[in-house]
Amino acid sequence: MLSEKDNERLTRVGPGTPMGNLMRRYWMPIAISSDITEKPVHRRLLGEDLVVFRTTTGKVGVVQDRCSHRRTQLTVGIAEADGIRCGYHGWKFALDGRCLEQPPEPRMIPRADITAYPAEELGGLIFAYLGPKPAPLLPRFDLFVMDGVIRDIGWSHYKFNWLQAMENAVDPYHGEWLHGHFMNSVRAREGKSPVTHYAKKHVKVGFDAFEYGIIKRRLLEGQSEATEDAWTIGHPLVFPNMVKIGGGGFQQIQIRVPMDDENIWHLWYTIYKPDGQLPEQKTVPGYQVPIEDEHGEAILNFIDGQDAEAWGRQGVIADRTRELLGHADVGIAMYRQMLKEQIENVEANRDPLGVVRDAARNVVIDLPVERTKPFSDNKTYIAGILNAQAVLYSPLNGMLKDLFGVADTVR
Ligand code: FES
Ligand SMILES: [Fe+2]
Repeated sequence: MLSEKDNERLTRVGPGTPMGNLMRRYWMPIAISSDITEKPVHRRLLGEDLVVFRTTTGKVGVVQDRCSHRRTQLTVGIAEADGIRCGYHGWKFALDGRCLEQPPEPRMIPRADITAYPAEELGGLIFAYLGPKPAPLLPRFDLFVMDGVIRDIGWSHYKFNWLQAMENAVDPYHGEWLHGHFMNSVRAREGKSPVTHYAKKHVKVGFDAFEYGIIKRRLLEGQSEATEDAWTIGHPLVFPNMVKIGGGGFQQIQIRVPMDDENIWHLWYTIYKPDGQLPEQKTVPGYQVPIEDEHGEAILNFIDGQDAEAWGRQGVIADRTRELLGHADVGIAMYRQMLKEQIENVEANRDPLGVVRDAARNVVIDLPVERTKPFSDNKTYIAGILNAQAVLYSPLNGMLKDLFGVADTVR
């Protein structure tokens, strides 16, 4: 349970809020590279309205989506070689926000510069840094830089607060209920047979802090503590807003980007490594993951649709003054404590957890993840992923099933 004050402190991310100041110490994804051409695109990030564009020389810009002249959005703009020009009367702004031209004016009107943020591309994503300078390095997490894999990036827009999604990253027990018993109840309503592997009972769970967040470990019934990867290696919550999952040739970082207090841009950044020769990928495709059907009904027959439904129905911003935490919620308590401590670090002007400034440590940052999966065999696991996880909607799904040699069914 949290006080109302603490619930506010942990959920609100706008400029000047304690959590907003913490989030601003990290690079955040703002767009999928392959979606950004010279056509400027509006984005909301940490409560700020921004425009993302690509100059005619291929550089990516992120600036406030508001022209300083008469304040139309720069989304109505023209990307040029060295910046963006407002479409309304032609004022032009450099990538660093300086106003370069005001065509109709005989002399430059002062104080016309706009806010601009550093932007970098990595692994098919565009990241922006909205915090104080000097900006830290953009962390080169393993999946973003790995060779010899196939990638895709799913996204969805969730209309609730980011913390509900992140608390789920340290909530192992929901797996057996939401993705096990609840999924099977949905399948039964559709006349389908139950899926057995997700409903296995958790024998115990463990959480350990590490330099990039929290390692989550779990042991299911029938597994051995000595040899089970899900226990000996586990998988990480990457502070503050990511979780890495997977195993067996499939690995995924889910990124919960707070657009503002009530909206999340949810990303599934996935790499696949089937055996054999892989086709070359020139760009990383993006795709939308639907969580509602054409009638506005939640789609509940896949894992991420179940997650979105459970998190969204906690409320737009969950009322944590009225919750009852128990034994199963020990990871959530640990994560909240970590958020509080890192807010304090920022308030004391120290770098919070996981911020990278040493280039030598940033060649590749390996994030531990279980190598195998507790299913009867790897193909059963991969078939379950490709048929009942967000990647179900990837444009590469059919090709991936062929490469992994798995069928169109979940068992
Ligand atoms: S509103 Fe942008 S140039 Fe006039
Ligand atoms: Fe889940």
